[in-house]
Amino acid sequence: MIYLDYNATTPLYPEVRRAMAPFLEEAMGNASSLHEKGREARGAIEEARAEILQALGDPAGRLIFTSGGTEADNLALKGVVGALRGKGNRLVVSSIEHSAVYRTAQALAEEGVEVSFVPVDSNGILDLEALERAVTPGTLLVSVMQANNEVGTIQPIEAAARIAQEKGVLFHTDAVQSFGKVPLDVRKAQIDLVSVSAHKIGGPKGIGALYLRQGAPLKPLLHGGPHEQNLRAGTQAVPAIVGMGKAVEVTFKEMESGISSSLARKRDRLEAGLRACVPETLVNGDSLRRLSGTLNMSFPGCEAATLLMALDLNGICVSTGSACSSGSAEPSHVLQSMGFPAPRMTSSIRFSIGWGTTDEEIDEALVIIPPVVKRIREAALEVSG
Ligand SMILES: Cc1ncc(COP(=O)(O)O)c(C=O)c1O
Repeated sequence: MIYLDYNATTPLYPEVRRAMAPFLEEAMGNASSLHEKGREARGAIEEARAEILQALGDPAGRLIFTSGGTEADNLALKGVVGALRGKGNRLVVSSIEHSAVYRTAQALAEEGVEVSFVPVDSNGILDLEALERAVTPGTLLVSVMQANNEVGTIQPIEAAARIAQEKGVLFHTDAVQSFGKVPLDVRKAQIDLVSVSAHKIGGPKGIGALYLRQGAPLKPLLHGGPHEQNLRAGTQAVPAIVGMGKAVEVTFKEMESGISSSLARKRDRLEAGLRACVPETLVNGDSLRRLSGTLNMSFPGCEAATLLMALDLNGICVSTGSACSSGSAEPSHVLQSMGFPAPRMTSSIRFSIGWGTTDEEIDEALVIIPPVVKRIREAALEVSG
């Protein structure tokens, strides 16, 4: 199998597995217990928290562990709106957010919150002037993702945060796809809330976190015990939290040692090879301001779901847009926002590579993919002709 779906999820780093192992065995305490086993679990959680806050650039900030990026996004949007209700009733989000933000915003709209979706250009980059216009009095929160999961475009979040800050509005960024890949310094950029998730960076699934600037208001979604500073009730997932702390440590070391340029080199080779061997391909997303491991490409004349299945049969794992929307007949709202015609949207495939991807896998993918596309295009022509 050639796994080219790192934006969906990543394999565990071996270091992460080793770090988690004791917490699945003898170090099994509940972090709320007062005895030694509890203290041991609590210590491990606090170590992971400190590691992640340090990586975000605010060791004195707050970090709430959640069940993943989706819960962190829900907590950010509903939590801020809930805490500030009465002071305003408006939320501003970009039109290419992951469904964890997009659908949460829609759900809040159904409850009477005024929601503005800010457009992007044809490269998937946020329109800052439209954002400025959208942040009107009564706005409680602006949420713009740091990098898009489908096309990989990196958003001008520092400029977006500045607009929010100048208007006295809180700013949230969904950094699930970019944490550990694109530099982020929350204090420098004056960002109030950040969502992150472990399984996109070599950590376990089912764990994430919401960063909160000291003093930022938030209403909890879950009620129960006083866990996570009274902001997220429920016994903490100690092994997963430890795994997330280690994944952040390893990912940031790799970022510092330049993994990004090696990924970009492999990604660019895949892109150039496909462009050379497959006629009429189109790359979706900004070619420069893009995650180094992401390549979203359209193969007009080739239905994306058919191509995905054919590649799967040939041992290559890819996605059509976001994993969360695959299986739904609706074209991706991200590609729709970028203004693409239907043939480009319905033939779009996302290749995403990461720490385990080898040059040999790229070579092999370049041998396998072109004839598969050719066969599907020919079959489609026969059917229509
Ligand atoms: C940008 C973005 N936000 C949020 C999520 C959801 O994160 P999780 O899978 O941890 O719930 C994802 C996952 O694909 C994502 O790509």
